[in-house]
Amino acid sequence: MKRLTIRPATPEDAAAITAIHCSHISVWRRGGKGDIVPYEALSPYEQWLHGGPWMNAETCAAHLRRWQETGHLTLVALLGEEVVGEAEFVEDEEPLPYGHVLHLSLLIVHRAYLGQGVGRALVDAGVTLARERGCIALTTQPEQAAEPFYHRVGFEPWLWLREWQAPAREVFLPADLRRADDAPYPAGQGLVLRVGRYQASRHMWYEMANRPLPELARLPWGRWQAPMPGGEKLWLGLRAQPLAPTQADGFIWMPPGADLRPAVEALQSLAARLGFAFVDLLMEEPEGRALASALDLEFQTDLTFWRMEIGEQSP
Ligand SMILES: CC(C)(COP(=O)(O)OP(=O)(O)OC[C@H]1O[C@@H](n2cnc3c(N)ncnc32)[C@H](O)[C@@H]1OP(=O)(O)O)[C@@H](O)C(=O)NCCC(=O)NCCS
Repeated sequence: MKRLTIRPATPEDAAAITAIHCSHISVWRRGGKGDIVPYEALSPYEQWLHGGPWMNAETCAAHLRRWQETGHLTLVALLGEEVVGEAEFVEDEEPLPYGHVLHLSLLIVHRAYLGQGVGRALVDAGVTLARERGCIALTTQPEQAAEPFYHRVGFEPWLWLREWQAPAREVFLPADLRRADDAPYPAGQGLVLRVGRYQASRHMWYEMANRPLPELARLPWGRWQAPMPGGEKLWLGLRAQPLAPTQADGFIWMPPGADLRPAVEALQSLAARLGFAFVDLLMEEPEGRALASALDLEFQTDLTFWRMEIGEQSP
């Protein structure tokens, strides 16, 4: 039996990582949702539409390099000499109850090697990394089909999120709103990601500005800041959805407990100015439900954040 080992990934692993991701795609479609065509007939962007930068060895290598430069972590699992699994992590810190965590943003095992302990070994390596970095928990946002696996390896559902769709329309914009696309992540400023927690807060900040192909670079996006009455800052973000570019994903970073409604209305207004028809708002329950009812927003989908506690928050 081949030995299972885990090590940090390098950009040279890109082709093997692409093979792992492609092993889970049964059909390739023109433009991501059109006619069925062979993989080779698709442009890198069309391949990207099937699941992101990992779908093409070149975009995967660029992703691994940028991920590394940004200080994020990637591990690969090997059976003997063969790379058969991949995990990506983002270290993040927000005020409690989120805290200092290591977020598992991606976990995948080659279809031919499922059920052999590879996924568990990558999660265990993540726990070790999280401990080394003094994190209090490992978090993840699993696809529903993978939830039994996450339960089995020690995660529990922790945060219930619901995505709502709001029409883009001019409602309200704070005075002193300033566009700041290139701003660094506002770490240590007492802010939390109140809208748009598809992955960890720092990851979403990074992803919003990540536009590695010309087709993605053309999609509208933006980041804005405004001062809050308490002296903190409010951050707003919008990013077009590649498969539905008239719709934006919305992001709001603000202090916990601050009134979310004016920030949501500001996002609706900015979305209208950027020419979007709708903005999707992923909010925590039950806060999201209350706001959705007040603003008459349309339900889209549910997501759950899962968490494995691994230690105490250091003072
Ligand atoms: C989810 C995934 C990473 C699991 O990897 P894996 O290597 O097959 O899992 P392991 O063999 O390490 O399984 C660990 C445990 O989980 C259990 N398990 C794995 N998949 C399971 C499933 N779908 N349902 C129930 N239990 C499952 C295993 O039986 C095993 O239990 P045991 O240790 O008590 O025997 C893999 O199925 C995968 O890559 N799926 C496609 C991509 C994906 O869904 N990624 C996660 C997105 S959030």
